[in-house]
Amino acid sequence: MTSLLRPILPAGRRPMVARCLMSTVAHSPAALGLVMPPWFGATPAHSSRPAVPAPPLRPKTDGALDSSMPPGFTAHVAHLDTFKLPERVTGTAGDRAMGKALVGAWRRDGIVQIAMNDDHRRLWENARAASQRFFKRPHHEKAKCVDAQSYAGYIASGEEITDGIADYSEIFTITKDLGPTDYRVRAKWPCHGPCPWPDSGMKEAMTLYNEALGREGERLLQLIEMGLDVAPGSLTRYTRDGWHHTRVLRFPPRNGTNGKGKAGRGIGSHTDYGLLVIAAQDEVGGLFVRRPNKEEKFANWKASAAGLKEDANDWLYVPPVEGVHTVILGDMMQYLTNNYLTATPHKVGLNTRERFSYAYFHEPSFQAVIKPLEEGCGGMRPDVEKEDEGIHYGKHFTNMFVRNYPDRITTEQLMAEDRYGMLDDEELRTMGTPPAAC
Ligand SMILES: [Fe+2]
Repeated sequence: MTSLLRPILPAGRRPMVARCLMSTVAHSPAALGLVMPPWFGATPAHSSRPAVPAPPLRPKTDGALDSSMPPGFTAHVAHLDTFKLPERVTGTAGDRAMGKALVGAWRRDGIVQIAMNDDHRRLWENARAASQRFFKRPHHEKAKCVDAQSYAGYIASGEEITDGIADYSEIFTITKDLGPTDYRVRAKWPCHGPCPWPDSGMKEAMTLYNEALGREGERLLQLIEMGLDVAPGSLTRYTRDGWHHTRVLRFPPRNGTNGKGKAGRGIGSHTDYGLLVIAAQDEVGGLFVRRPNKEEKFANWKASAAGLKEDANDWLYVPPVEGVHTVILGDMMQYLTNNYLTATPHKVGLNTRERFSYAYFHEPSFQAVIKPLEEGCGGMRPDVEKEDEGIHYGKHFTNMFVRNYPDRITTEQLMAEDRYGMLDDEELRTMGTPPAAC
């Protein structure tokens, strides 16, 4: 999800290569729940990391790691940390160490991998199968899956724009599925309405998977709170009745597009707008991310980060790893932490085969008004502007969707009924209590 303005940054800057070393944490990789993808072999990569930090990059070669990289791209291949989350986060020493390690990994790579448990694997397989069945339907059937009240439903390939160029992604968006008796739907709150499911099978598969991802998102936020040294609830207080949503994605093969976009480009460079994006991808490959760089504070909520550095030569390719979720950070995490954790720029390339992925957005409540944390963040006292009146997440979300879908029936109705004006009502901004004292 992107918008159209493009701030100007100085060219030719080198990416930051400093990193938070795992070796600063007095726990073994196994104790931290770090697991290795198959190609790491028997020796955890961290055990052999040198004393002098070096990014886990590898130039493009003909090896197995990058064999799935879409053609026409030059990128380093990411060697990512994979974490096995605890079933429950209770504040043990192990939880705190994992929180620090997660935060360190995001500050170094901008992305981490979370090992799926058996339930996740089953739910992802079911969701993927449902996604494949849906996208195989004829266009006229898919095109019926829209709703005038919510932005849930179908988006055709070439319909979404990033930095002025059509994306080739074909999407089914899932927002909070609210029936006509829900008081927010009756009151005509913007973006609130049903999800126009094509059938009950897809509804069940996606809903069950999203519920599991929601639990994973909450555990991640709890661990991040520990990693940031902020009070419990500093982040999770915003996600009560969170406005979590999903983009179920299909990318055509690079030689099978409708010609509306740019050759080889699936989705242009952008950052996402919330807290966490937990994603699953099939075995085809196409995701690229940029590592955090202190020269690149994009602040997408002020001016769009769409298209930034899209053609730079220092992107990281994220190869598909079976049995993991990838997790990147969004704009609200950057805003909350005053740039200590930054939103992860990412883009998608088209491969030689069609590709399916699933991006779950773990978000604040629609009503949340978010303010930057005033302490924590690794001991750094953030540079908080005391007059900062915060970001109303519901307005932030609505702005993104109105900008991305100006011609959708949902935007037309939102404007025609002046639902947009309701975003300034106190009722739509009453959520959140101060976190408990440290
Ligand atoms: Fe994205």
